Amino acid sequence: MMRLQYRPHRGGALAGLLVLLFPVFLPSLFSPLGHASPSMFSEWNAPKPRHFRLLKSALQSETTNAEQSDLWIPLANQGLRPCVESTKTPSALPEKSQGYIQVFLDGGLNQQRMGICDAVAVAKILNATLVIPHLEVNPVWQDSSSFMDIFDVDHFIDTLKDDISIVKELPYEFFWSTREYYATAIRTTRIKTAPVHASASWYLENVLPVLQSYGIAAIAPFSHRLAFDNLPVDIQRLRCKVNFQALVFVPHVRALGDALVSRLRYPSGKRGALGTDYLQESTEGAGKFAVLHLRFDKDMAAHSACDFGGGKAEKLALAKYRQAIWQGRVLNSQFTDEELRNQGRCPLTPEEIGLLLAALGFDNSTRLYLASHKVYGGEARISTLRTLFPLMEDKKSLASAVERAQIKGKASLLAAVDYYVSMHSDIFISASPGNMHNALVGHRTYENLKTIRPNMALLGQLFLNKSIVWSDFQQAVIEGHENRQGQIRVRKPKQSIYTYPAPDCMCNA
Ligand SMILES: *[C@@H]1O[C@H](CO)[C@@H](O)[C@H](O)[C@H]1NC(C)=O
Ligand SMILES: *[C@@H]1O[C@H](CO)[C@@H](O)[C@H](O)[C@H]1NC(C)=O
Ligand SMILES: *[C@@H]1O[C@H](CO)[C@@H](O)[C@H](O)[C@H]1NC(C)=O
Repeated sequence: MMRLQYRPHRGGALAGLLVLLFPVFLPSLFSPLGHASPSMFSEWNAPKPRHFRLLKSALQSETTNAEQSDLWIPLANQGLRPCVESTKTPSALPEKSQGYIQVFLDGGLNQQRMGICDAVAVAKILNATLVIPHLEVNPVWQDSSSFMDIFDVDHFIDTLKDDISIVKELPYEFFWSTREYYATAIRTTRIKTAPVHASASWYLENVLPVLQSYGIAAIAPFSHRLAFDNLPVDIQRLRCKVNFQALVFVPHVRALGDALVSRLRYPSGKRGALGTDYLQESTEGAGKFAVLHLRFDKDMAAHSACDFGGGKAEKLALAKYRQAIWQGRVLNSQFTDEELRNQGRCPLTPEEIGLLLAALGFDNSTRLYLASHKVYGGEARISTLRTLFPLMEDKKSLASAVERAQIKGKASLLAAVDYYVSMHSDIFISASPGNMHNALVGHRTYENLKTIRPNMALLGQLFLNKSIVWSDFQQAVIEGHENRQGQIRVRKPKQSIYTYPAPDCMCNA
């Protein structure tokens, strides 16, 4: 296999850096296999609820109607609107292309999404023609879907046609420029040394000469290789335009997503064939729903070094995993569970996110869509959440096997459906920071949609107080989340434009 992707668990300076920068979404080779079925849970005793008293109160508490209706009110206009068109009119294509830019993208769906946006920007900086990016097969997610399998490629090219030229594949004279070609030897047309967050001038100095000499430059690795700061406003706007307008999923993903959304909004309505039921419904009587993105897999649980209540066996299993994957280079393991919780460094368990939602006023009539890959501990761990929210659904419960056939076993397409449903929900809440969380926080900010960001440090502290009573818990939670429901936060230097689209992608309304 070509060594283009990062190997975080194999060491190396860059990998080490990335472990520190992006700890929670690092893949590992073993995680999808180790806990595939309940029978493999020898390491693990089904965890009992850890916050039993709170849970009991949550189940008994009656939500007032006032709380409920406040919760579902859409965000007010915040004075900003989407704004991605070029400031130059006409936004001219360069007269002559400098050559072809090819990129090979690592990571899961959302990391690749950022890579695609950056690739368009780099091609624009260089006045080059972009070849539709190649998506590497991720060792964890194991999905070989191509760009065209996931995204609507014609829409992509068409949306950007006034900005850059894009080709689906290289012309015949460059057919030799493949990943296999770059995997077998050092090649002069491969740019291997792009620094993390490189500047526009780095590309002009280092990649333009290659383009001019050979007519092509292949950049790999490419993830996180373009700076977020000190770029011309039109380049920033172009990145936004790619992310928020040019990248739409293929029609069958959108159709399945629409069907799921419709079934969430009209739960009692009969389920027509895929793609027919939602079209015929009027919006009258549409129910509201929230999406809960839960990433609580073994990788993340182990990396956090927190205690999740599975007892000694679970603790040992996670420590062993940590050693095997990161050879002890996990910063968090220097701290006690209590210290980590106080700092808000522990991912919320399904039980804890359930208590958070209950305290915020969601109740057993709330329709919740669970966007999730695999939960460490499986259904046993989710059951507490389900007790609080019996109307919890997911792809599997809402769509038939036939409807899911096209996405089955394809991690990127499954994630794409969850992304689509998340974008169409009234409220989105993510229990774990990471690429999916960041992508959706950014996209929903851009469209001014309600998004609850859990206050991890506050929750960590509240859950440490074993004698806390429900009313105190609830009050602290409500106060601690007043300003975490989608209020626009302006991007600070070094922060991602894709997570914080204001001000770069937004203008005064
Ligand atoms: C929802 O909770 C209320 C009490 O808060 C209870 O009376 C009702 O039976 C519950 N409904 C369901 C479907 O569990
Ligand atoms: C790209 O094209 C623009 C406009 O045609 C020109 O001003 C700029 O110098 C070109 N840059 C490169 C790197 O070719
Ligand atoms: C813990 O909770 C109790 C009861 O709600 C409260 O009186 C106490 O102040 C809390 N302790 C801390 C350290 O916050």
